[in-house]
Amino acid sequence: MKKILALSGSNSSDSINKKLLVFAAGLVENAMVEIVDLRDYEVPVFSPDLKKESGFPEKIQLLFGKILESHGFIIASPEYNGLVTAVLKNTVDWLSGLNMKFLGQKPTALISTSPGSNGGASNLDILERILHYWGGHWVGSYSLSNFHDNFDTDEMKVRDEEEQVKIKELVGKLEAALETMSLTVD
Ligand SMILES: Cc1cc2nc3c(=O)[nH]c(=O)nc-3n(C[C@H](O)[C@H](O)[C@H](O)COP(=O)(O)O)c2cc1C
Repeated sequence: MKKILALSGSNSSDSINKKLLVFAAGLVENAMVEIVDLRDYEVPVFSPDLKKESGFPEKIQLLFGKILESHGFIIASPEYNGLVTAVLKNTVDWLSGLNMKFLGQKPTALISTSPGSNGGASNLDILERILHYWGGHWVGSYSLSNFHDNFDTDEMKVRDEEEQVKIKELVGKLEAALETMSLTVD
């Protein structure tokens, strides 16, 4: 069975992006999903000196191992000042030292949410354009605006059915890409 790694780029214990990610992951029908919380993989800020002195942190090597054994990705990317979070960028900076195209040309869906009307869409716009540097094959993006109005945290689901359908369609695209792409996991 194919495996999707669902990664949240937040280090908040109450991350709204992780909640959206868990909801999206629950819509996957034909693949295994592992949710990865970057709080479990926090490492020092990347520096060439640190890399030279101490090598790659064990947590980065573990995460890279999970990436290698996955066939596709959902990345939930919170927006900080119009960009991806520092914790996600830092993780990427370390991972790219192991393999510049560390996502291995595998299909990748992007999602984001925020408390505001933008829903993190600005950071997704940028991420869509740079994902190929990370070796990700972009299949689509979804952002949920006004999280606290649009997500039911008791039921842990997006309230609006039309929005649910959009996420389902994105997950469907990812699953279809898993089937059609050449998937040598190495
Ligand atoms: C430093 C900082 C910058 C932020 N910048 C943005 C922003 O540019 N756009 C936006 O929609 N929300 C912004 N927010 C609000 C975040 O979307 C909000 O904190 C959200 O909960 C972050 O996602 P998370 O809960 O998954 O960590 C910012 C929050 C912080 C702390």
